[in-house]
Amino acid sequence: MIGHREQWSSRLAFVLAAAGSAVGLGNIWRFSYVTGTNGGAAFVLIYLVAIVMIGYPLVVTEITIGRKTQRNPVGAFLSLAPGTPWWLIGAMGVSAGFVILSFYSIVAGWALAYIFKAVAGFAPDMDFAGTFMGHIGSVWPPIFWHALFMLLTLGIIVAGVIKGIQRWVRILMPALFGILLILVLRSLTLDGAGAGVAFYLSPRFDEVTAQTFLAAIGQAFFTLSLGMGAMITYGSYLSEKHTIPDNAGWVVGLDTLIAVIAGFAIFPAVFALGFDPAAGPGLAFITLPAVFAAMPGGSLFGVLFFLLLGVAALTSAISLLEVVVAWLVDEKQWSRPKASLLMGAAIFVIGIPCTLGYSLLSHVRFFGMDILDTYDFLASNLLLPLGGLLTAFFAGHVWSARELCREANRPAGNIRIGRWFGVMIKYIAPAAIALVMVTGLFQKFSGQ
Ligand code: PFF
Repeated sequence: MIGHREQWSSRLAFVLAAAGSAVGLGNIWRFSYVTGTNGGAAFVLIYLVAIVMIGYPLVVTEITIGRKTQRNPVGAFLSLAPGTPWWLIGAMGVSAGFVILSFYSIVAGWALAYIFKAVAGFAPDMDFAGTFMGHIGSVWPPIFWHALFMLLTLGIIVAGVIKGIQRWVRILMPALFGILLILVLRSLTLDGAGAGVAFYLSPRFDEVTAQTFLAAIGQAFFTLSLGMGAMITYGSYLSEKHTIPDNAGWVVGLDTLIAVIAGFAIFPAVFALGFDPAAGPGLAFITLPAVFAAMPGGSLFGVLFFLLLGVAALTSAISLLEVVVAWLVDEKQWSRPKASLLMGAAIFVIGIPCTLGYSLLSHVRFFGMDILDTYDFLASNLLLPLGGLLTAFFAGHVWSARELCREANRPAGNIRIGRWFGVMIKYIAPAAIALVMVTGLFQKFSGQ
């Protein structure tokens, strides 16, 4: 490795950046529609268990690996286990970064486009499903917004860790909290909001299947940016003097809180105005504009909502691109501008089939899923859980749980991780992920 490696200038900067990575489309767009189609509160409960049992231990593990090695995901495994093929976990993570950012940017582009649609105003008699389908089914507009979003992302990454990532999360994260709070207050005070709260809080266990567990674990990994080295990369810019168990707790806590709160912003509004909570990926884009059109001051709340989605997406997208860029800068000695530009362009190109899947390539289906859903399924339900499983196994058995715990508890802070942590990482997390992946995938592909 050559050159000087940047470090976060404070503990707050790290927490905001890592929480910025975690909080994204996953908390608002994905969490709400996956909850709506997977049994409401029953899904939320399983998801919360997955966050505590698997999510938190893995966030600690990834950050610790990053801080210890001060390297990108590939380099981190290489430096902990030289001369072995374990670096392939890191390589899988870098590939997952490519796949996720390519479809993520398409959805973020929808959000940008909808900011302007909201400015123009949503009328109560509009055909909202038709408008959404018309937008995603057109060829050039989604490609234009995808390009713009990738440009914003790479613009931040070119500037580096301090002048790019850290500077922007300090502005964008507080803005995101503020907007979300305004939206929740508006949603909960609508007439009829209670039915949405009831839907969200009453579990329907009869709708739970093996796929619900796979969806919950997939959501936990996706929302915490786990299983692909994003937390390793952000941890690699953390100095030795900063503690890990408490900072990881902040990141996981903020991310979970925001997902749960976003549910309170979305479901009451959907119910108050009589829409279907199981509308699928279109939930945020079809149902909510109709909600905004039907409520007083709706245009303003519409603009705020899609702005929130765009901002949340941006602070996550930068972490996805940073994984890829850090790998090229550390391992291949590319300059940061070259890596950011070329990889940004490559990801832009890989994303194009996702949007064409709604227009020119709409006949292309994999097991009933369109191209964007296929990318999402491949990344969230396959690559991330597998990456997480292998990372936990590696940390617990190859690097050793004792080393991991010692490193994570250094320097001494106000919380320490205890013995249970080693058990989780060595046995429970890998076994639970493997079980859920095998049964969930079997159910999906056997068509049951
Ligand atoms: N955690 C982000 C979200 O919830 O939207 C998505 C994500 C970002 C996944 C970074 C993976 C990652 F490395």
